[in-house]
Amino acid sequence: MLGIWLLEFLNNMLFDPYHRKINYLRISVTDRCNLRCRYCMPEEGLQLIPHEEILTYEEILRVVRVFAKEGISKIRLTGGEPLIRKGISEFISQLARIEGIRDLSLTTNGTLLKDFAGSLKKSGLNRINISLDTLNREKFSLITRRNGYEKVWQGIEEAMKVSLSPIKINMVAIKGLNDEEIESFALLTLHHPLMVRYIEYMPSGNGEEWKEGNILTIPEIKSRLEDVGKLTAIPSDEWDGPARRFRFEGAIGEIGLIGPVSDHFCDHCNRLRLTPDGKIRTCLFSDDEIDVRGFLRNGGSDEDLKKQLLVALKTKPERHHINTHQFKKCQRNMSAIGG
Ligand code: GTP
Ligand code: 5AD
Ligand code: SF4
Repeated sequence: MLGIWLLEFLNNMLFDPYHRKINYLRISVTDRCNLRCRYCMPEEGLQLIPHEEILTYEEILRVVRVFAKEGISKIRLTGGEPLIRKGISEFISQLARIEGIRDLSLTTNGTLLKDFAGSLKKSGLNRINISLDTLNREKFSLITRRNGYEKVWQGIEEAMKVSLSPIKINMVAIKGLNDEEIESFALLTLHHPLMVRYIEYMPSGNGEEWKEGNILTIPEIKSRLEDVGKLTAIPSDEWDGPARRFRFEGAIGEIGLIGPVSDHFCDHCNRLRLTPDGKIRTCLFSDDEIDVRGFLRNGGSDEDLKKQLLVALKTKPERHHINTHQFKKCQRNMSAIGG
């Protein structure tokens, strides 16, 4: 009896050739964005994927139903900016009903969050990550080339009010741009139920030129945080992503450190990505994409979709090659991959 149960249990798990358990799918629902962050996009924006090439919600739901049966249990919606796609809350409520999906989250730039937080919560979204690189209104306009700092703050407040939890703030730390704000972000965690996450700057956008010298490394950031106060490590749990977690004494919130460059977390990578136009990406930095849209639109069966998932799994690279001579910048922009 126990043997059958164990077989069924293992049957419902996906492992890649490097023995990594893959249970997380990041779905970019649109490549459109209402900001123009300097490290991500040029002022004039990027060439957009034509509407007819973008997967419909019904198509995405079908993919998730098939993948959930195989062992995908964690879904994150990303963009571009996912909240600009019409009908997103209703889509989330349908995703939330899929058997096997145990964690449903979204990464947003926060500009539309004030109006959406309540309906997202009602739809069954568990938690939210908000990208915010500065706490200064003018600096926000400089980095994103758009106004809207106040709107993002109102969005964060609304998310706290409706108890989306945890709320993670993603701050990409870039020397000469926002490095003087490391400490002010840290202080937010003392009195707010927020997890502030510092992220090393990666060579992945199509914005201003990435320079290695502009990376503020996690060890540098950590040492500055230790001057703010004593940091205690928090053990990670099953649902944790790539962040190493810490807390200041007496703080309500948490600190997260994400070091894709100095301390890559590829050994523990548990994720695949689905692009807006229906390709599975096996790594943020690999352009070897596996098509699912063709199968969805040409009468492919669920078994065909499952086969594509297994191909993705089999071909998932061992690691990225940032900072090695093998590194090649990826062809797709971050805004069409979703980070
Ligand atoms: P949680 O499950 O909440 O921990 O989410 P997450 O950290 O996976 O998601 P989020 O969208 O907030 O991404 C945080 C940062 O990590 C962003 O800068 C992403 O670009 C980066 N990131 C996410 N996944 C990967 C990955 O597979 N490889 C690398 N190198 N960076 C990643
Ligand atoms: N390096 C690190 N993080 C990045 N993001 C976008 N571009 C980069 C980059 N070059 C972050 C966004 C968002 C997440 C999905 O990816 O700020 O928080
Ligand atoms: Fe900024 Fe994200 Fe929009 Fe790129 S996709 S411009 S990083 S908000």
